[in-house]
Amino acid sequence: MKIVFATGNKGKLREASEILGDGFELVTPAEMGITEDIPETGNTLTANSRQKAEYLWDRCHCSCFADDTGLEVDALGGAPGVNTARYAGEDKDFNRNMDKLLHELSVVESESGMASSLGVHTRPVSRRARFRSVVTLIIDGQKHYFEGSLEGEISRERSGNGGFGYDPVFIADEFPGKTLADISEEEKNAISHRGKALRAMAEYLRSVDMA
Ligand code: IMP
Repeated sequence: MKIVFATGNKGKLREASEILGDGFELVTPAEMGITEDIPETGNTLTANSRQKAEYLWDRCHCSCFADDTGLEVDALGGAPGVNTARYAGEDKDFNRNMDKLLHELSVVESESGMASSLGVHTRPVSRRARFRSVVTLIIDGQKHYFEGSLEGEISRERSGNGGFGYDPVFIADEFPGKTLADISEEEKNAISHRGKALRAMAEYLRSVDMA
């Protein structure tokens, strides 16, 4: 089955191809002649993934899917959330995004430390966080949604050379003491938020005999 994936990211394309397996031929928007940036202006991950998938459907009327991912940090009230890619600015710079995240968490911790030194009862600041991915699939004009999440915590400093985005500061529960940038691509794909959402989509496609 031929299916268009709303990404230009080679890593994501490879991950999706591996997860979906032999029955699928993944095509990029560029290969369909769609070279402009696909708009993502929604307020939620679902709205953004739907917007990107609908954009492809409107342009090509072919089977297509799009994903949107956010990092939700408990101590920051769920931020950066839908602003994950642009947390530190429109240029989507991974290094500045991670610097900002570690800084914001250190501010919350020092405020909590100050409050407790003044005798205010405070609980230790949690560094719990999760990645959440939403995939929207459109087949014959019908939309289907799939979700995946990865629980873990934000490290105190960066570690590792692999992966992308916030990987060097995210410690998944499945790999204590290691960030996602310290583990192999196979290890990450087996547990990742996007992997789970894509596997759910692949299972659905097989169940309706589309693969
Ligand atoms: P997107 O919706 O997949 O483009 O993801 C939005 C942003 O989330 C990316 O720009 C990355 O900063 C971050 N992100 C998404 N997936 C991952 C991941 O697997 N590891 C680390 N960061 C990620």
